[in-house]
Amino acid sequence: MNSFILRLLVGSLILISSSFASTPKKLITIGRDLKEAAFPQGKSNYKHGIFEDDELSLIEVSESDFERISHLAHEKFNRCGGFMVHENENMAWKEIDNKKNRLSAQKSVMVDYGINQQATVKNLIKEVQETNIREVILKLSSFKNRYYKSESGSKSSIWLSEYWKSLVAHRSDITVNRWKHSSWPQDTIIVEIKGKTEDKIVIGGHADSIAGWWGRERARAPGADDNASGIATMTEILRVLVNSNYQPQNTIVFAAYAAEEVGLLGSKEVAKSFKDDGQNVLGVLQLDMTNFNGSDLDIVLMSDYTNEAQNNFIGGLIDTYLPGLSWGYDKCGYACSDHASWNSQGYPASMPFEAKKGDSNRHIHSDRDTLSRSGDNANHAKKFAKMGVAFVLELDN
Ligand code: BES
Ligand code: ZN
Repeated sequence: MNSFILRLLVGSLILISSSFASTPKKLITIGRDLKEAAFPQGKSNYKHGIFEDDELSLIEVSESDFERISHLAHEKFNRCGGFMVHENENMAWKEIDNKKNRLSAQKSVMVDYGINQQATVKNLIKEVQETNIREVILKLSSFKNRYYKSESGSKSSIWLSEYWKSLVAHRSDITVNRWKHSSWPQDTIIVEIKGKTEDKIVIGGHADSIAGWWGRERARAPGADDNASGIATMTEILRVLVNSNYQPQNTIVFAAYAAEEVGLLGSKEVAKSFKDDGQNVLGVLQLDMTNFNGSDLDIVLMSDYTNEAQNNFIGGLIDTYLPGLSWGYDKCGYACSDHASWNSQGYPASMPFEAKKGDSNRHIHSDRDTLSRSGDNANHAKKFAKMGVAFVLELDN
């Protein structure tokens, strides 16, 4: 082969391979701090500063930069992702506009705790069924465990997302998403019933379980009470709202958190991201352990790491809509569940609990946390589902 043809061949090979290597450019909105860290001195071959203020930038980047930026967001700023990709400039501007509105509206939150939806609430709480709650508890506790790092832990959360999808399939205003965490495989599952406003009401509980001290990935941890009961209670609240065809004013969020049992990790990320995003949250209801009836009281409101006004409101809901039931207050004494993650971001949170702390289920965090040790039924959790339906409807209106 003569050298001319050889050079031609090599040259075109380089051309072809370099055109394969360059990834498409993408439009992203990104926090100013993260942008400055990712592109010091604005070093990039792409367009920067399409929009920029103290908090936010709109820039173009190469898709191959995504991994580096995510990594930086996680390592340096302790957040996930840290940027948002947009199809086109119009959609990017829309998101910038929304975010600015959220951030300015957040300063003026006034929640109305009036109780005045008697007709709707009474109609809907009649629909709550014990069998549905029981079946979800049994299904979730049939996984070997729901540990945040185990395969069955991931699978159980995927099962939940598929189940929630099946409940909302006929509604185009409802989405079910798997929220990925960067440091472990189990996803947090998020349902959103879109309202007329972007303000949120959050019903949450942890989907993970734990048992044993070593080999936790493989230890049996049915977590029927802690916390299949809370997830099953949320599921029934969701089912009743969706089947009634209720169209909310505000956006109703259901969150099944990953990795609570190892330090509230999933909910910390979610609550922080809501805050960073300027989301307005009217109220958060945490359902963690709802099915062991251990006290003379039916529902016990934890008074620490929670919002007093919202707790009083829940007491009022019980008096109004569940008049046969008794309720009172107790304390966890520490940040015992995901309500604390929202509370530390400044959002009003409550944690209605199955019993006084000293009377609660002794079998949690072991292979003995089964439905049979909570009476083999979901009668206690049913009360919490009714209260949850009332909470959503009254806070929403
Ligand atoms: N559901 C429990 C919290 C709980 C247990 C409240 C007993 C009241 C009585 C939760 O899943 C849990 O186990 N929390 C941990 C703390 C968390 C930060 C890892 C706990 O209580 O030890
Ligand atoms: Zn626990």
